[in-house]
Amino acid sequence: MKDISEFPFLPTFSPSLLAADHNHLYEEIHKTESLGCHFIHIDVMDGQFVPNLSFGLDFVEDIHSIHGMVNDTHIMIEKPWLQAGAYVKAGANILTFHLEACPDREKVLLTIAEISKAGGVPGLSIKPLTPVEAVFPYLDQIGLVLVMSVEPGKGGQAFMPESLERLSALRAKIDALPPEKRPLLEVDGGINGITGPSCLKAGADLLVAGSYLYGHEDMGERMVAVLEQR
Ligand code: DX5
Ligand code: ZN
Repeated sequence: MKDISEFPFLPTFSPSLLAADHNHLYEEIHKTESLGCHFIHIDVMDGQFVPNLSFGLDFVEDIHSIHGMVNDTHIMIEKPWLQAGAYVKAGANILTFHLEACPDREKVLLTIAEISKAGGVPGLSIKPLTPVEAVFPYLDQIGLVLVMSVEPGKGGQAFMPESLERLSALRAKIDALPPEKRPLLEVDGGINGITGPSCLKAGADLLVAGSYLYGHEDMGERMVAVLEQR
């Protein structure tokens, strides 16, 4: 039986802890790492940018020392420039914020600068209704671009098929950059055994998946089944 560690580093999964058993989060993190994952996705929600609340700064800090995976933290919060540095210092290796949470270009650049200054990799995310062109001016200044394929705020929603065209458009734009300036292309929401391979074909480097993976005995096989089709 194949293991996901047998696949090249990218493209790969970034499992979303939001769908893990919250009474056993440490075990879920260890299980994720033991399956060969290189990334773990942590969703931070502030109850304002999105209606729900989820993990926060303390949680990011608590878990950063218990695993060796890349801590891929997605902050769905208002005024991200105010807290970006703190999240990186708490252990977020990649810190992805929302373009829609910034009122203007100056605040986007400030948030990118705060993340970089704290030693993190800046990531920029767009919601499904934001035109992909809105991130084009920042692509050469960030390490990751995240296409939301559902409305951010909760797990278990259906993948929006128009996300595939959005991924392809970004893939083309990213590939036109010099290799050292190319951000990773990540997709988040509704990823499963059908939508995952389609996203890989559209050019995604990282698949965030929550409900497709956690709560299933065959989590490792589920990742392999998608990666085999890339
Ligand atoms: C949604 C979060 C996702 C969520 C994905 O706002 O950003 O990371 O956990 O959940 P699934 O994979 O169940 O759609
Ligand atoms: Zn997320």
